[in-house]
Parts: sequence; C-alpha cells; structure tokens
Amino acid sequence: MTPTDQTLPAERDHHTGPLLEIRNLSVRYLTEAGEVPACDDVTLTVRRGEILGIAGESASGKSTLLTALLRLQRTPAVTSGGEVIFHRGGGRPPVDLVRLDERAMSPLRWSDLSIVMQSAMACLNPVMRLRAQFADVITLKNPTMTRGQVDERITELLRMVGIAPDYATAYPHQLSGGMRQRSLIALALACDPDLVVMDEPTTAVDVVMQRTILDQVLALQERLGFAIIMVTHDLSLLLEISDRIAIMYGGRVVEVGDAAEIYAHPRHPYTQGLRNAFPPLSEPVRRLTGISGTPPNLLNLPVGCAFAPRCPHAQDDCLALRPELRTMPTTGAGEPGLAACLHPLDRDETRRQDEDAARPDAVAVDSEALLASTMEGAQR
Ligand SMILES: Nc1ncnc2c1ncn2[C@@H]1O[C@H](COP(=O)(O)OP(=O)(O)OP(=O)(O)O)[C@@H](O)[C@H]1O
Ligand SMILES: [Mg+2]
Repeated sequence: MTPTDQTLPAERDHHTGPLLEIRNLSVRYLTEAGEVPACDDVTLTVRRGEILGIAGESASGKSTLLTALLRLQRTPAVTSGGEVIFHRGGGRPPVDLVRLDERAMSPLRWSDLSIVMQSAMACLNPVMRLRAQFADVITLKNPTMTRGQVDERITELLRMVGIAPDYATAYPHQLSGGMRQRSLIALALACDPDLVVMDEPTTAVDVVMQRTILDQVLALQERLGFAIIMVTHDLSLLLEISDRIAIMYGGRVVEVGDAAEIYAHPRHPYTQGLRNAFPPLSEPVRRLTGISGTPPNLLNLPVGCAFAPRCPHAQDDCLALRPELRTMPTTGAGEPGLAACLHPLDRDETRRQDEDAARPDAVAVDSEALLASTMEGAQR
C-alpha cells in the first residue's frame, strides 16, 4: 500500500444514516456508599458525519457516557444495561459495542472510533517522542507500512493540525499545551475513524487557542466527514458547532434535538437555564442568569424529576413523577426534538422572556445579581 493510499480522502460522502445507536445505556459506579447511576437509561443516535454536542453541568454523566461507549471505563464502573450498536463502514455488519469482548473491541479503537481526552499530558506518553507514539497507532491499522510511509503519514497528520513536522522528534513536554492538544487530535484521526469522541478537548488551553483548535477540527470534519460527539461546558460554543445537542442532567438525557431549534426554543427548563447562563451567540445581547441550586446527589436522587428542586416552573406532579423523554410537538419545519419534562416550556413565553432580558436596562443590570443568585443556590 502506498502512502497515497493511506491519505485521508479529500471528500467523503456525508450520509445521514445512523452510525451509533445508543439504546437504554446505563452505567453505575459500585462504591462503598452505594451504586452511583452516573449514566441512566441513555438513548441517543449519532448519524454519519454529524456533530452531536453533549452539555450539562459537572457530574451530569458526560464523561461516564463517553468512556462507556469506547469501553474504556475502569472499576468501579459497570455497564449495567443497554446496547450501543455501531454501524461499521466497509460493508461490515453492525456490532453491539457493549457485548464485544476486548479482543474484538480493541481493533475498533483508533481505526473506527477514537477519543480525544481533556488532558493531553495524561494521554501522551511523556517518555516517548511523538513520532513513536504516532507510529504505534498508524501501524495498528497498517502493519505492513514501511518506515518511510509511516513518516510521510505522520508529516501529513501533523500538518493537518498546523504543527510543523519537525516536532515529530519532540517529547510531549517540549510542546506547548495547544500543540499537545492538537497532537492528540491528529492522533485520533491517524487511522481515519468514522467517529471521534471529544471530551472537553480544549478546556486546558486559552480561549484564543480554543477557537483555533475548534476551527481546525471543524474544517477537518467538513473535509473528511467523520462524525463527532463533542462534550464541552460552553453551551454557546456547542450550539454554534453542533448539528444536534443532547443535554444531560443527573445521569440522564433530559433534552435532545436540532441545535438551532434547542437554542431558539429550549423545552426543558434546565436547558433554558444553561442557555441563559451563557452569552448569546449573536445580537441582541441579553441579561445572563444562573441556575440556582446545585446538581443532585446521584446516591440520593429525588423520586420525581431530578431537576424539580431547582426548577422555577416545577409543579406538584414534578416532585412525584419521573418524566421520560418524549417527542415535543414542533411548529417549525425541523425535526421534532425530545424532552423529559412534564411541563415543557412554551415557545411564545421563551420569546417574551428573551425580549425582556434583551431590554437595555435589563442588560445593564447585574452581574452582581447573577453572582448572588448562584451563591445563594450553592449555599442551599
Ligand atoms: N470512579 C468513580 N467512582 C465513583 N463515582 C464516580 C467515579 N467517576 C465518576 N463518578 C461519579 O459519576 C458522576 C458522573 O461523573 P462524570 O465524570 O461522568 O460527569 P461529567 O458530566 O463528565 O462531569 P465534568 O463536567 O465535571 O467532567 C458523578 O457524580 C461522579 O461523582
Ligand atoms: Mg467529564
């Protein structure tokens, strides 16, 4: 096989079929204090070539879900139910990743699915030069490549993420934080996977570098057509780059749908709270508000909706019944989203609130009030 055969295709068809179907996936941590249902009955689909964003406060189960998908979870995590159907490329039959034994799972990592973690330093081997680390991954899928072919491929991958090929001979500590993070992204793309899972890939770098890295990822994704599951705390950013968004709270998906639709019309009060805590993507500027209170203790979840104790719209039934995800009626042309809420928000009410929050006097108010409400919630 020539190096040219190994290069990533310049254009790949963007299909709309499912790539990954996560069905009722549950992951628990078996701790001395009890079972922590960190990922509870999660059902989500990732389509070929799309970007699915996942947002939620800390401890909502995002990383647990991602590591379970790649079967990288460690004790005391246990996948206690559900399936993850992966539709492999190349005419191979679909597989359930939950049920594959490690011998069958291992070849899929890097080649078909790869992951970019938050901390590049923890993922790169500090005592190996980049070249050796890249060569290990490249030759997993292409064991017959010659040294020259491997080097050509490393040069190509480094260039793809804006790193001069000379750095192949560097150790990780000789790179800046941004370069390390970009190396991880290049490594994740080394075997041309269909899905790249990114867990807060840019939180360890400054905002300018964050933007540069994300722009590079988007350009590569557009050119090469791989699908991405992207987790980041920055909901505005996620909404900007994702095709669809899933919102997690207390280990469950509470809303999922088209990114633009969710931004314009969040159905779940938690989604609305997250959205209103970040500056809007474009004008008009509106007042930011926090979400009062703190995320639930997963060892002691309330009987009803886990968000009810913090929800400004909660009614009596919310405290008694746990809502399931259900299809929301849509007035737009887009595909209807799903929300797990007994009393989903009304589109007109959201529009009125947005207009109200965008009034100049409202915007001029109060970072202080925002801080006060957040502190009050944290003390509750
Ligand atoms: N090794 C572990 N043992 C016990 N509980 C754990 C373990 N790892 C995570 N958890 C619990 O699982 C829940 C979900 O954690 P997870 O790391 O998946 O959240 P997250 O949404 O990724 O948060 P963050 O945004 O802070 O990264 C949390 O309540 C956490 O305390
Ligand atoms: Mg996490």
